[in-house]
Amino acid sequence: MEREHLKPLFHAGHGVACGKFILIGEHSVVYGEPAIAMPLHSVRMSARVAHGAPEHWFESELYQGPLARLPAPLAGVKAAIEACLEELGERPEGLHFIIESEVPTERGMGSSAAVAGAVVRALFDLYRRPLDRDTLFALVQVSERIAHGNPSGLDAVATSAAAPIHFQRGEFRDLPIALTGVFVIADTGVKGGTRQTVADLGARFAAERSEVEPRILRLGRLTEEARVCLADDRPARLGELMNEAHAQLATLDISSPELDRLVEAALAHGALGAKLTGGGRGGCMVALCTDAEAASVVAEALLASGARQTWIHRFEEDPA
Ligand code: PMV
Repeated sequence: MEREHLKPLFHAGHGVACGKFILIGEHSVVYGEPAIAMPLHSVRMSARVAHGAPEHWFESELYQGPLARLPAPLAGVKAAIEACLEELGERPEGLHFIIESEVPTERGMGSSAAVAGAVVRALFDLYRRPLDRDTLFALVQVSERIAHGNPSGLDAVATSAAAPIHFQRGEFRDLPIALTGVFVIADTGVKGGTRQTVADLGARFAAERSEVEPRILRLGRLTEEARVCLADDRPARLGELMNEAHAQLATLDISSPELDRLVEAALAHGALGAKLTGGGRGGCMVALCTDAEAASVVAEALLASGARQTWIHRFEEDPA
């Protein structure tokens, strides 16, 4: 089907979301501890939607075809679209969605939540209706529950956020940031296994609570201290906290040889701290560097150590 469907006479809706990385607090957040996540506005997810197709039609890099036959990895998006139309009280025929994504899939960068967020925003824009943060969150969570089973909500918030966020038990708030450091995010090239790592840690928590619980609580305390470091511009201490968080997560069997290799490479090339980010056992890691020059040295080292792709993130340049 041609993109001609979008030309028409009708108003088209447009929605944008973005990639994200979790600075600290992944996994422990599932147990009620806090986490800090950063939207990556330079890694964009864009959705456009217009009336005028013969049937609901979906176009993305992963799939082009009728919405009714969306493949399993996109089942959550279909559910979010249905919930969104219900919320809007609309029963259109022949919506045509076009998704353009810079967010890699299954790398812990929030691609599933970002697609849902962009699509929900596009639909509200199409019908020229205001969308508040709580409604957006609830609709993206419809998709996330299907994609991830038992999501904390962190991705749903972070991929649509304007600023770094502190998240705990479904409550989120923007964080004050004074940090001058620069982050490098690197993709191991290995698919992340969030659903599996969350389930495995859950089983371990049940079987060995006295061993696992103190580590979860410790990750929560590291996260709270990281929040202070971000507000007070203390990159050296933040790096130490990231290192300890990685060690705790590795002990909980959330890391992988590829992640450990990239973390070691970053530290060997001058990073202040480095850790896996997101669900683990694949996906991405994040390193903190003092400045842009140090960050490009670390990014080179990560690529030389097998990273598939790297992204550099500094707050001053974030095009929120
Ligand atoms: O793999 P990601 O980036 O979607 O992150 C998952 C974060 C976890 O804390 C492991 C799970 C969750 O639902 O918060």
